[in-house]
Amino acid sequence: MAKVIGGVFTSHVPAIGGAIHRGAQNEPYWKPFFDAWPPVREWLGEQVPEVVIMFYNDHGLNFFLDKMPTFAVGAAAKYRNEDEGWGLPPFPVPPGHPDLSWAIIEKLVAEEFDITTCQDMLVDHAASIPLALAWPAGEAPVKIVPIAINTVQHPLPSAKRCLALGRAVAKALAEWQGDETIMVMGTGGLSHQLDGERAGFMNPEYDTFCMDNLSVDPDALTRHSVHEIVELSGTQGVEILNWIAARGALGDKVHEVSRSYHIPISNTAAAVMVLETEAARAAGKAGAEKTAELA
Ligand code: DHB
Ligand code: FE
Repeated sequence: MAKVIGGVFTSHVPAIGGAIHRGAQNEPYWKPFFDAWPPVREWLGEQVPEVVIMFYNDHGLNFFLDKMPTFAVGAAAKYRNEDEGWGLPPFPVPPGHPDLSWAIIEKLVAEEFDITTCQDMLVDHAASIPLALAWPAGEAPVKIVPIAINTVQHPLPSAKRCLALGRAVAKALAEWQGDETIMVMGTGGLSHQLDGERAGFMNPEYDTFCMDNLSVDPDALTRHSVHEIVELSGTQGVEILNWIAARGALGDKVHEVSRSYHIPISNTAAAVMVLETEAARAAGKAGAEKTAELA
């Protein structure tokens, strides 16, 4: 049986990619953000995930405003990143896991989610930068299943619907016959608004509400409508929908392993969190005890 270990939740600002390429991680502006990652990598080093279910939103690289699926699931053997106009070379993107993708797609459709399936799919900074942060040495040593949620062009799916989508993915993972170690990522947010009258808007109070409830009561995040979330968190802060869906994929009980929150990175409240499942916690403890015994 596959093991679902937990998830990494992170902002996905393109300028982070610029900082990686320039090697600017230790500059005063960037250090507080990059300092969140050693504990994340330590957890990844202990848990060694083989598959990442990536909940993110596309910003115009694969889906533009003319064709915008509410929920799209990648079912490709290979994915690519391309020039998004940020002046960055494309990031390496790990291979897909088509069999698992189709198992998830089958389950989502059986659960009455009318999704789009993509056998040819570019993935943008919202997927590639989080992978580069988690595995800085090069292409991430995992297979990915990208799940893109429309957080860009209204009408957007409700937070309740995104949590339900994630929970349906959890059912698919529970039924999956493979024996992989699987994690989720949820990317975007936290509060930010990049344009319009409120450009630069951020809301630490709402972000804290989201981070405090993500592990223990994710349903609390679904009590706001999409328009209320935009008001609370900014036009692009609504990317929290990706975090909510990813949280749903982890089942009922999870533990918070690490959290970092830093304002601002490019007008964005930058957050990084790790949540782990009960199964991963037990395995981690057993692993630690075994290591202590051997020492
Ligand atoms: C920016 C872009 C994003 O997709 C995001 O989530 C935050 C910030 C930006 O262009 O600065
Ligand atoms: Fe974004």
